Amino acid sequence: MTARLSIKKVFEGSKVGDEVKIAGWIRSVRKNKSFSFIVLNDGSCQDNLQVVINDDLPEYDKASNLLTGSALAVIGKVVESGGKGQSIELQGASIEIYGEADNTYPLQKKGTSLEFLRDNAHLRVRTNLFGAIFRIRHTLAMATHQFFHEQGYYYLNSPIITAYDAEGAGEMFSVSTLDPQKLPTNDKGEIDYSKDYYGRKSFLAVTGQLEAECHAMGLGGVYTFGPTFRSENSNTPRHLSEFWMVEPEVAFADLDDVAELASEYIKRLISEALEKNKAELDFLKQWRKWQKIEDNNHQETLKHVRDSKFKKITYTEAIEILAASGEKFEFRPEWGAELQTEHERFLAEKHFNVPVIVTDYPKSCKAFYMKQNADEEAGKETVRAMDVLVPGVGELIGGSQREDSLEKLEGRIDEMGMDKDVLWWYLDLRKYGSVPHAGFGLGFERAVMYVTGMKNIRDVIAFPRTPKSADF
Ligand code: 4AD
Ligand code: MG
Repeated sequence: MTARLSIKKVFEGSKVGDEVKIAGWIRSVRKNKSFSFIVLNDGSCQDNLQVVINDDLPEYDKASNLLTGSALAVIGKVVESGGKGQSIELQGASIEIYGEADNTYPLQKKGTSLEFLRDNAHLRVRTNLFGAIFRIRHTLAMATHQFFHEQGYYYLNSPIITAYDAEGAGEMFSVSTLDPQKLPTNDKGEIDYSKDYYGRKSFLAVTGQLEAECHAMGLGGVYTFGPTFRSENSNTPRHLSEFWMVEPEVAFADLDDVAELASEYIKRLISEALEKNKAELDFLKQWRKWQKIEDNNHQETLKHVRDSKFKKITYTEAIEILAASGEKFEFRPEWGAELQTEHERFLAEKHFNVPVIVTDYPKSCKAFYMKQNADEEAGKETVRAMDVLVPGVGELIGGSQREDSLEKLEGRIDEMGMDKDVLWWYLDLRKYGSVPHAGFGLGFERAVMYVTGMKNIRDVIAFPRTPKSADF
C-alpha cells in the first residue's frame, strides 16, 4: 500500500509525474460531464489540493456526488494544474471513500459568522480561517520552547492545584471532593476543610510563578508554559477563565533584564510566524478584506514591531501622557488608579504605536511579591512592576522584579492581611541564599491574538472557557 503524504509534503516535494497518495476532507466538488474536480484539504497547510477524476473510474459516480465535509483518500499522479492559483493538481487513479457528510454539515461554503463557528467549535478547525489560526498557534508554542531553550532556561511544569492565591485577586476556582449537600463543619460552624481531599482549602492555580521562583533559585532560569485558571467574571474579548501562560523566572536579574527578555521573546514570536506562516498570514489578510475588517497592513506592522525598539516609560509618565492627551476617557487617569484597557490601548495604539513597557506601578495596584522601590515619598510608593502593552490587544505581559528581602516581603504580606503560613516555603527562598530575581507572564492566547490579528480571544483557543460557557 502506498503511504499517505500530507498535502503540505506534496506541494513542497512532489514532482510532476510522481504517484502519491493523499487524504483529506472535501471543501468543494465541481461536476462536469465526463470529469469532476474535488478540492481537498487535510489541515497540513493552508492550500487545498485539487483532484481531477474522470468518469472511467469505477468510484466516479459515488465520488463526484460527495458533499462538502466528506473524507476520502486518493492515489493519483501529480500533474501541472490548468487552474489559476495552484501549480499542481492530482489526476486521480483510485479513490477510497472514508466518511460521508450530508447536507446538514454545518460548514457550508457561504459565509459563516465567528459566533456560529464558536457554537461549532468541534468543527471550526476545518475552515481555512481556523486552520490558519491553529497552525500559527503551534508555531508560537514551538517558538516559545525554542527561544527559552536556546537562552538556557529550563522548562518547569508547575502544579495546577494550589493552596494559595498568589495574585491576591480572589479569582480562584475551588478544588474539593467534599459533598456540597453534607459539608463537614468545625465547632465554630465553619466548613472544616481538614476533612477535604488535601486537608485544606485548595484551588486551581492562577499562576505558576511562585514555584518558578523556587526552581529559578536552583536552576538559574526556568519557564513555565501551562494552563492557568481565573474565575473573574469578565465577559470581555480578552479574558478566558482557562488560558495558557508562559512564565520565565530569572535569577541574578533585575526588571530591566526581564524587560529586555520580554521584547526579545515577543520579537521572536513575530519573526517565526512571519517566516513559517506566510500563507496563513496572507489568508488572514484576505479574510479581513472579505469581512470588511480594517487590516491596517497587519504583516507590515508585525515586521515594524520585530525591527523596532519597544518604548519604555514609567507608570507616572504614563499618567502624565494620559492626563495631557485631551482624550475623553471613561475613567479619569489619576495617579494611584489602575490603568484601564482604554488607557492601555491609547498608549500602545494612538500615542506610541509600538509595544510599550510601563514600569514602576503604585504598590497598591500590584501583587504582594513585587520589589518595593526605595526613596518614595509617602503615599507615592511604587514597585518594580512592568506591563507590556501592545496595539490591538492591550496588556500582553505582566511581570516584575521580586522582593528579595525577607523583612520587606513579610512586612508587605502583613500589610495586605495575607496568610503567611501557607507561604512559609516561599519565604524560605529569602532566608537561604536570596538573590535579585525577576520574571514575567505572557498570556499565550493574547500573543496569538496579537500575531493573527484576531479580535476575540475565544477564536484563538481551541475550546474556550468563559463565564456560563464550558461546552465541548
Ligand atoms: O498580569 P498577570 O496576572 O501576571 C501574573 O500572573 C504573574 N504571576 C506573571 C509573572 O510575573 N510570572 O498575568 C500575566 C498575563 C497577562 O498580562 C495577560 O496577558 C494574561 O496573563 N492574562 C489573561 N489572559 C487571558 N484571560 C485572562 N483572564 C487573563 N488574565 C491574565
Ligand atoms: Mg497583569
